[in-house]
Amino acid sequence: MATEGQDIWTLRPANDRDLQEVVRIEQASFGDPWSDGDFRSVMAVRHAIFLVAEDSARKIGGYVITMAVTDESEVLNIAVDPERRGAALGALLLDAALAEAEKRGARSTFLEVRESNEPALRLYRSRGFEEISRRRRYYKSPVEDALVLRRAVH
Ligand SMILES: CC(C)(COP(=O)(O)OP(=O)(O)OC[C@H]1O[C@@H](n2cnc3c(N)ncnc32)[C@H](O)[C@@H]1OP(=O)(O)O)[C@@H](O)C(=O)NCCC(=O)NCCS
Repeated sequence: MATEGQDIWTLRPANDRDLQEVVRIEQASFGDPWSDGDFRSVMAVRHAIFLVAEDSARKIGGYVITMAVTDESEVLNIAVDPERRGAALGALLLDAALAEAEKRGARSTFLEVRESNEPALRLYRSRGFEEISRRRRYYKSPVEDALVLRRAVH
């Protein structure tokens, strides 16, 4: 449980019953959203860390998915309901996923982000992520380069 402003968020592993809300937030967040099946597939992977944040009314505010294999982890997805953004929920989710990955042995974490995605870049930089490379025209809808960021555990 964590408190931020007036919202009290509970972070917990996602389950099947969360997927409808997760897909709704996903579709409101990305031009090339993951499908329900994409989320289900990731849920079945042992190395996946898939957390949702729910408020005191049990409404999902956001989610994060990280894959932690050997000493490396990767943030595959993170999104916050547009109505709940800018109140540190993204930071709360990311910190929880990074902490769990580190608990499982991750020494570094990678992720890709659209180069124009300022809110996400700001969040990642505030958590120690640094740009290490660029993937040209990596994203569709719209086409855009991805920046590859890395964060090392010290
Ligand atoms: C990226 C995202 C998860 C951040 O969630 P959030 O709950 O709004 O983020 P937070 O409130 O924790 O803010 C984290 C940082 O980003 C900054 N930020 C938040 N919204 C911002 C905005 N619209 N413009 C610029 N910076 C912003 C905050 O100021 C904060 O930085 P600070 O700590 O230096 O003040 C959210 O914007 C989102 O869901 N975006 C759509 C999906 C997406 O792009 N995911 C990332 C894919 S790589």
